[in-house]
Amino acid sequence: MAETSSNGVVAYEVVDRIAWVKFNRPDKRNAMSPTLNRDMMEVLDALEFRDDVGVLVLSGEGAAWTAGMDLKEYFRETEADGLKGTRKAQRESYGWWRRLRWYQKPTIAMVNGWCFGGGYGPLFACDLAFAAEEAKFGLSEINWGILPGGGATKVAVELLPFRKAMYHAMMGENIDGKTAAEWGLVNEAVPLARLKDRVAEVASVLLQKNPVALKATKDAVRRVSLMSYEDAEDYLVRAQEAANSYDNEGRKEGIRQFIDEKSYKPGLGAYDLSKQQAKS
Ligand code: COA
Repeated sequence: MAETSSNGVVAYEVVDRIAWVKFNRPDKRNAMSPTLNRDMMEVLDALEFRDDVGVLVLSGEGAAWTAGMDLKEYFRETEADGLKGTRKAQRESYGWWRRLRWYQKPTIAMVNGWCFGGGYGPLFACDLAFAAEEAKFGLSEINWGILPGGGATKVAVELLPFRKAMYHAMMGENIDGKTAAEWGLVNEAVPLARLKDRVAEVASVLLQKNPVALKATKDAVRRVSLMSYEDAEDYLVRAQEAANSYDNEGRKEGIRQFIDEKSYKPGLGAYDLSKQQAKS
């Protein structure tokens, strides 16, 4: 990795418009400490509007994606500072997960190993998730005596059927990447050796799409799940019209290349963005 955050606990490099960001505390299984949470916000901030970044991938250095919240630094040490310390730590962690949920660029969780508890926050925050078959996922909170907080229970209920969510939260048993894909926690699981190639393949497809449309689409998918059909229908009209104010030519060019130029078929792939860019 070419660069690291201020405290070295997040590493990142940008290659071919993909920002590869890593939790970088392998000796602590990438547990999320307050320092890591601050550094991650710093890195997300630095990358979000860079023109040379089209997709962000979040993975972990070493054997873990992330072993969840740091039991010592995030819980014990911040609690020693009373409610003020606890709330500050929560703001910092929930803050970067929220930032990631509504990130300008498409995001992919590349789960290379352990993913526990608080890790479900960034897992859900990423738009897409790909796991190694060998990875292990668990809501381990019950095993050390708390409920799955920091949004983890909500993530389980959002992504899993009720009985699976309840079993997963109550039993504290781990599932592997393959099972996580079957259950819907991640999109797909592949052998660890192929994980990065598969993610790069997905990212390269996203890089071909209209970026304004991608941002509008990812936000819409998250927002409409909480709306009635009527509200969603209205929201989607307004969201497209708002997107037009950033890119009023994209869809026209998409129609032109299909109807007039006959150079592609929207049912089979994306229009050529470079022709649109050449015109503007
Ligand atoms: N918080 C704080 N420290 C953690 C941690 C966490 N969530 N997860 C791992 N570590 C630390 C260990 O304390 C150990 O530190 P040390 O070397 O100073 O003793 C180091 O990371 C390596 O962990 P270890 O348990 O020896 O690694 P392992 O490969 O044998 O096991 C895990 C990996 C992930 C199964 C195990 O570390 C674990 O159960 N972690 C806690 C998971 C969890 O419940 N997270 C909280 C969710 S909210």
